[in-house]
Amino acid sequence: MCGIVGVLGNHEAAPILVEALKRLEYRGYDSAGIATIDETNTLDRRRAVGKLVNLSDHLVHNPLAGKSGIGHTRWATHGAPTTDNAHPHRAGPVAVVHNGIIENFRELRTELAAEGFDFNTETDTETVALLAQSHLDKGASPKDAVEATLSRLDGAFALCFLFDGENDLMIAARKGSPLAIGHGDGEMFVGSDAIALAPMTDKVTYLEEGDWAVVTRAGAEIYDAEGRRANRPMKQVRMDANMAEKGGYKHFMAKEIAQQPTVVGEVLSAYVKNETITMDMGQVDFAKIDRLSIVACGTAYYAGLTAKYWFEHYARLPVDIDVASEFRYREAPFSPRTAALFVSQSGETADTLAALRYAQGKADHIVGLINAPESSIARESDVAIEIHAGVEVSVASTKAFTAQLTSFAVMALKAAHQRGHLDDTGLAQKLGELRQLPGLMSAALSIDDATRAVSAKLAEARDVLFLGRGQMFPLALEGALKLKEISYIHAEGYASGELKHGPIALVDQHTPIVVMAPHDGLFDKTVSNMQEVMARGGRVVLVSDARAMKDAGDGVWTSITMPEAPDLLQPILYAIPAQLIAYHTAIAKGTDVDQPRNLAKSVTVE
Ligand code: M6R
Repeated sequence: MCGIVGVLGNHEAAPILVEALKRLEYRGYDSAGIATIDETNTLDRRRAVGKLVNLSDHLVHNPLAGKSGIGHTRWATHGAPTTDNAHPHRAGPVAVVHNGIIENFRELRTELAAEGFDFNTETDTETVALLAQSHLDKGASPKDAVEATLSRLDGAFALCFLFDGENDLMIAARKGSPLAIGHGDGEMFVGSDAIALAPMTDKVTYLEEGDWAVVTRAGAEIYDAEGRRANRPMKQVRMDANMAEKGGYKHFMAKEIAQQPTVVGEVLSAYVKNETITMDMGQVDFAKIDRLSIVACGTAYYAGLTAKYWFEHYARLPVDIDVASEFRYREAPFSPRTAALFVSQSGETADTLAALRYAQGKADHIVGLINAPESSIARESDVAIEIHAGVEVSVASTKAFTAQLTSFAVMALKAAHQRGHLDDTGLAQKLGELRQLPGLMSAALSIDDATRAVSAKLAEARDVLFLGRGQMFPLALEGALKLKEISYIHAEGYASGELKHGPIALVDQHTPIVVMAPHDGLFDKTVSNMQEVMARGGRVVLVSDARAMKDAGDGVWTSITMPEAPDLLQPILYAIPAQLIAYHTAIAKGTDVDQPRNLAKSVTVE
């Protein structure tokens, strides 16, 4: 999604803004721009379509001077990614950058057109700049003009304004999209997140829902949605400037895949001490609930779908699982004694957040499973469980997925124990299995070369199918999502047993079928499904352990051998081949691994 940065500094702003925008690149974007106020107090801007390098080139030939400025990476929503539609948008003396959607922009355009304003873009954002201008034209101060403008805006947004003639003023606002104010030494900053601000400052104030802030070099005056002065705490964020660096890896995705043994170790040390689980679920006692409703999007949804198998199998707790964009509108009734659980890496996904708000007051408990502790979902949950994955930069989620799964595994065991389906000895044994996870994940990373060879073959394919059975079915869906996201190869995941009910019609000698099948209790059934595929010329890529390879029989096209592991760990462990297959296939195809086309890291619009 769009990225916002603002600087009231003591040095030239343009290079600082471009550097900060680079740190926001991971969010996904298709154009970028900056505006500054120079030493004559004049506002000017530069914008360019495509990667940031295009904006940098433009700035080499057409520099922008000044120590105050705002910048933006745009992920197009209203209007194509063109220079005219790129931010900052300017109307007379005001420039504005915006993340989110102004839902009533058509109505505002009609009003502004009646006032005699012309439009130069197809964006919703231009109406914000024009509204502010119309108030300034009538003599309002910048602060009053912004306050009056904000009162007219519907939708979810983060905004940052800069004004011609004002080199010590930015006004920032948050409604639905996060925004952080950074405090420097005689300098002030605004950013979509603390990552953007990391090299400049680690002292950050997060605006709360409906807040807006008048920022000068002396500090920030924050107002709430009713216009009252608000006191928001300044926090010291743990933000290592290197977190957003690739650390010797070619891509963030490769770095994040490799970090997984450490990440799952972090999750376990946060939530497991010796033979007990220390995960604090607030008021949620699994013995006192009859149903769990899990809601999420994308990869987080597949983590939730895996958790359904675990909660139902180990804790005998029925689980409903929904895609957030469907859940939010289907008016789901909640039966008594239901906890609702929302999974989100970013904690800002618009559909998941809206689903959470729908559940408030209906479910007995609202639980967030999040990576960003300051996020909206974390704040609005009764209890927020952190997955401890650290900053995830690559658009394709990897370490957040395995951290979600590991957190869910611990939670499901806690539920099993609380509900009396696992005694102390059983719990200790399962926790012992979980402790093997970091080591097994390190071992699993050694399949890198084998995966590269498989991916060289997959890169030729137009369509790829992924199959899994039982708790491996969600992983088949995740493997397909990863592959299509970054290699742009059409891929679908199916439950192995479902293939013969339709999708088998797709099978021919051109369609590789990746079968995720450890040697578990369902393996023989999966072998039968593989035979059905191979009998029709299908090319099976078997991802399994050495024991299963022996029992699989002949005819497998190619294979990846995984370490053997206890059942509970299989979906977490097998995430690694799913991720590496996608990664190496994308490399073979030469696509943009970390910032795949059309995608954004955090989807803050509907
Ligand atoms: O931040 P969230 O976990 O809420 O994001 C949900 C999805 O947008 C996300 O998992 C998406 O599917 C990823 N690009 C998958 O790799």
